[in-house]
Amino acid sequence: MKKQLVHLFKDPNDVANGFAHHFYNEIETKDNYTVALSGGSTPKLFFDILAREYHDLIYWENIQFFWGDERCVPPDDPESNFKMTYDHLFSKIDIPESNVHRIHAEEGESEVVRYGSILDEYLPNKNGYPQFDLVILGMGADGHTASIFPDSLDLLESKENCALAAHPDSGQKRITLTGSVINNASKVSFLVTGENKQNVLKEIHEKSGNYKDYPASYINPTEGELHWFMDKSAFPE
Ligand code: 6PG
Repeated sequence: MKKQLVHLFKDPNDVANGFAHHFYNEIETKDNYTVALSGGSTPKLFFDILAREYHDLIYWENIQFFWGDERCVPPDDPESNFKMTYDHLFSKIDIPESNVHRIHAEEGESEVVRYGSILDEYLPNKNGYPQFDLVILGMGADGHTASIFPDSLDLLESKENCALAAHPDSGQKRITLTGSVINNASKVSFLVTGENKQNVLKEIHEKSGNYKDYPASYINPTEGELHWFMDKSAFPE
């Protein structure tokens, strides 16, 4: 990892605003920017801010959108990460359909191979893996990130681009990027808010307690930057 940066904000809305500003600066001058989006509550606020305040400022056709993970449900299911992005962002901006590369997770395991080859097709290959300009991640209170859960740490080092995963409590199937692809990105940004993440975040940042059990601990882009956008209830100073 080249560098790790912590950005602290008052509340989830400020995190989303701060990240939207950072994202805008990041993409402003790029013409084929590739980003993997995340599900979760803070990305939802981030999409709302992009749609409301950056609607006319961003050349949307210059961005290629992918996902870091998807639930194995149809794209119009309320649980779908694609649907969440569509409802909060894509339905409100002018984005060519060809710039949106959703995970067809409703297809189940076969999508692991199809989406993996889509990544090979659209992204430059660096170090043997596709390289995103940016991967946006959330983190669960159990330390999971994307859909790499504590009971499947092996997915962090998988040789594949994508994998089939299952939520440990609900059993819901997911398709996720592997740690190999996430850690190959030029930049990775975590958006983490809420008091229920406090203990896990503290352990990850101090490398203490059970940090080795949390998938998020292993996200360290090999050659890129790692950014943590957090609110004070998740990461008190
Ligand atoms: C998903 C995610 C997942 C999420 C975390 C944090 O599809 O559920 O990609 O990894 O980012 O569970 O979610 P919150 O921000 O809502 O706590």
